[in-house]
Amino acid sequence: MDIIEKVRQFVEDECQKPTSKYGYEPYTNHFVPVVKYAKELAQELGADEEIVEIASWIHDIGSIMIGREDHHITGAKIAEEKLREFGYPEEKIKLVKNCVLHHRGSQKMELETLEEQILAEADAMSAFDDIASLFGAAFVCEHLTKEESRKSVLGKLENKWNQVKFEKSKEIIRPKFEAVKILLK
Ligand SMILES: [Fe+2]
Repeated sequence: MDIIEKVRQFVEDECQKPTSKYGYEPYTNHFVPVVKYAKELAQELGADEEIVEIASWIHDIGSIMIGREDHHITGAKIAEEKLREFGYPEEKIKLVKNCVLHHRGSQKMELETLEEQILAEADAMSAFDDIASLFGAAFVCEHLTKEESRKSVLGKLENKWNQVKFEKSKEIIRPKFEAVKILLK
C-alpha cells in the first residue's frame, strides 16, 4: 500500500470509529471533495502532489479524533506521529505538518508554501459541496430560524468565495457560487 493510500485508510477508519466526533459523514462530505480540489489545483499550479494529497486527507484529523477547537494544532501533531509510524521521510513530514497547521482560513496565518495555500483554498472550496451541513449547523447548532439560516448560509459561502484567491479555484467553483446566489439571495 502506498503512503497516500495508508493515510486515506487511516482517516477513513477514524471517521468510521464510534469515537469520531462528527461520525462518518465528514469523510464523504468534506475529506473527499477537499482532496479532489487540492489535487486539481496541485496539478494546475505545479505543486508537490504527494504532499498536497497527504495533507488534504489528514488535515481535519484533529477535529475527528479530538474536537474542532485547535484542530489545526492537534491535527498537525497526529499527522506527524502517524506519518513517522508509516516511515515517511522527516523533511516531508514537516511540509505536511505545516499544511495542516496553516489550513484554517479563519486563523489568518501566514501561508508559506504553495502546498499550504492549495490546502487552505481546497478547504474553503469544499463548502460548496456540503451546503446541507451548513444548513444543519444553522438549524441544529446555532438554533436559527429558516430565514436567518438562509442569510447565514449565504454569508458563509460569500466569505468562502472571498477567501479563494487562485483564478483556477474561482473557475472551478464559480458555477456553484452563481447558483447559490440565485437560490439563496
Ligand atoms: Fe477541512
